[in-house]
Amino acid sequence: MTTQQTQDQQLRFPEGFAWGAATSAYQIEGAVSEGGRGRSIWDTFARLPGRVVNGENADVAVDHYHRYRDDVRLMARLGLGAYRFSVSWPRVQPDGVGAVNQRGLDFYRRLVDELLGQGIDPWVTLYHWDLPQALEDAGGWPARDTALRFADYAAAVHDALGDRVRNWSTVNEPWCAAFLGYASGEHAPGRREPARAVLAAHHLLLGHGLAMAAMRAQRAGSRIGGCVNLYAVSPLTRSAADLDAARRIDGLQNRLFLDALLRGEYPADVLADLGEAAEGLAETGDMGVISAPMDMLLINYYSRFTVSGAPGGAVSAAAAPTDTGSPWVGSEHVSFAGSGRPVTGMGWEIDHDGLREVLLRVAGDYPRIPLVVSENGAAFDDVADAGGFVRDPERRDYIEAHLRACHAAIGQGAPLVGYFAWSLLDNFEWAWGYGKRFGLVRVDYPTQRRVPKESALWYAETIRRGGLTGPAQ
Ligand code: FCB
Repeated sequence: MTTQQTQDQQLRFPEGFAWGAATSAYQIEGAVSEGGRGRSIWDTFARLPGRVVNGENADVAVDHYHRYRDDVRLMARLGLGAYRFSVSWPRVQPDGVGAVNQRGLDFYRRLVDELLGQGIDPWVTLYHWDLPQALEDAGGWPARDTALRFADYAAAVHDALGDRVRNWSTVNEPWCAAFLGYASGEHAPGRREPARAVLAAHHLLLGHGLAMAAMRAQRAGSRIGGCVNLYAVSPLTRSAADLDAARRIDGLQNRLFLDALLRGEYPADVLADLGEAAEGLAETGDMGVISAPMDMLLINYYSRFTVSGAPGGAVSAAAAPTDTGSPWVGSEHVSFAGSGRPVTGMGWEIDHDGLREVLLRVAGDYPRIPLVVSENGAAFDDVADAGGFVRDPERRDYIEAHLRACHAAIGQGAPLVGYFAWSLLDNFEWAWGYGKRFGLVRVDYPTQRRVPKESALWYAETIRRGGLTGPAQ
């Protein structure tokens, strides 16, 4: 093979592309009663009988609060250029209001310093689902005041870290926080009040906008974006019922958030689907706040939904992402049919081309804005050898295929500037507890020993090379 051919087979990514991995505070930190941290809705929820598999909680998680220095060294060994983590609101403001808890902020300052010392770019997420319990007691996200409180908290963190952190995201996956938290009740706070979930979605978006405005007023130069979980959505057949099911799911899952953030309006068809629940949702001025220009859009991508409108149609339980508990997408209108593609350990269908589709869709349908894949990865039933090493070709293949899709999307015009694998470490996977492992790095929970999996070694090599090898997609 000539040198030229070898080069042709190098799928390089753009200069400055952020190669990262992601985590979130509640899923990894532990130390829930240390350093003045207050209680979050997840501390409460995990203690409700039957809500988390095996009654597990994240009191200890992977003890990152105490092991962050070692974890950062591990990231450096893997050659990560960027690390996306979230700040725990109740660590910084135990009751979600008022004076900040200096010890909480100091933890993140130390973490950021450690990252910078190793040449790793810190990407801070301000809200990854751990609402202070006191704010839930006052109404939670369905209460408008929570959005205002979020802006105050965001400003406090930005004030403390804005001199050393450039990349910020506000709310992680408002769809999940709203609909899993307040409609299906699968996530904290576990309420099953679908109409309130719509209000929660609006206030999460409003919180994003208010936080961004507060941060912008503090200093120029921060790059701020919202973060949405997008799915590729296909109808099972071209029948009118299936097409309408796809429209409905795409609307509630994707367009409700994209249109609000990037066009300053909610899609009319989704508002019609929501009916009364959406009446009087936005106060005057809200949509302008929500759609103020962002510096980037963070996209979490895991799977494609193939949906059918035929009630009682070919439903495969494995393909159903979740019971949203909402009347608008309930079994009356939509069934998650699946397409027969292989699935991950979560039962989520693997479709790397869906990521290319999603990136090109956002790039084409909305005003141009830099895009970041801020989460992408897979849980599988890992088996560790005696030394704790996991051979996980399925995870490596998953990430490789999705990176190829990113490369193809860039080639077709998507302004993609970074990719973050979910997750750096095995961790507490919300209602699934510790049974679902997404880490590039194995954590042996009893000893907290970390061992990079085969996928981590592959990812490190990919980063070192600045891209993939082999033919383009
Ligand atoms: C995303 C969440 C993240 C993790 C992955 C698997 O929806 O943002 O915390 O649970 O799914």
